[in-house]
Amino acid sequence: MPDLTLSVFRGTDKGGEFVEFTVEHGINGVKHQDDTVVLDLLHLLQATQAGDLAVRWNCKSGRCGSCSVEINGHPRLACATRVADLPPGPITIAPMKAFPVVKDLVCDVAYNYEVSKKTPAVQLREPDNDDDWRTIHQIDIERSRELGRCIECFLCQDVCHVIRDHGPEPASYAGPRYFARLAEIAWHPLLNNSREPATPAVSKNPGGLGLCNVTRCCTDVCPEGIRITDDAIIPLKERVVSEHYDPVLWVLRQLRRPRARDG
Ligand code: SF4
Ligand code: F3S
Ligand code: FES
Repeated sequence: MPDLTLSVFRGTDKGGEFVEFTVEHGINGVKHQDDTVVLDLLHLLQATQAGDLAVRWNCKSGRCGSCSVEINGHPRLACATRVADLPPGPITIAPMKAFPVVKDLVCDVAYNYEVSKKTPAVQLREPDNDDDWRTIHQIDIERSRELGRCIECFLCQDVCHVIRDHGPEPASYAGPRYFARLAEIAWHPLLNNSREPATPAVSKNPGGLGLCNVTRCCTDVCPEGIRITDDAIIPLKERVVSEHYDPVLWVLRQLRRPRARDG
């Protein structure tokens, strides 16, 4: 296997530059084989050429969501991106674009936790009389389970143009990860208030959902294969329309409303 050229961002949010490194095949006994991932190369750089290179990681198995970076301009997990799958030529590794850089490849993702604090918790309904929730349908379980696979890597938040263009602003736009969370709650088969108009999932503009114009970039980058757009965002938008803008439902609600007494 040939030597590899890596172009790695070094710096902070105040400024920085891409620095080129050459990783020799077999250096320090580490060979980049078919299963070598980009995180291996970053560890190799730390061990041999750039001891102070800042990289966030934890599990090295695609489970913790910590090692999110942009590889050749695409948001990806460094530990789940095999070098052999990348096109030949230099590999560019940059921090996520949507968030402020702390140092090198490490971003400040606090915005996501601020949004998370505003996301309501699930309130389970009471079980049926015999302690058996038999009214749950498998399809409802699968839908919630799919959305619940999120590892909070925030790659979908990183790629969403609304956050990229306007900057992280938790007050106005929650982003795709949280639309998936809202949908997970709204579709939860044991939720006691899932069909009530007052739930955040069906307010007129939950988490700034109206700003999403369904570009599907979030779905494309999700390492868990969650169909964020089709299984969360579009159904949420449909529910907003039926709750707030459907003229037939509006008329029915007006007819059902108690009338004020004359005089
Ligand atoms: Fe990552 Fe997918 Fe969760 Fe978004 S929905 S944070 S891309 S796992
Ligand atoms: Fe953003 Fe995904 Fe919508 S990328 S614009 S949240 S479909
Ligand atoms: Fe945990 Fe990459 S190190 S997902």
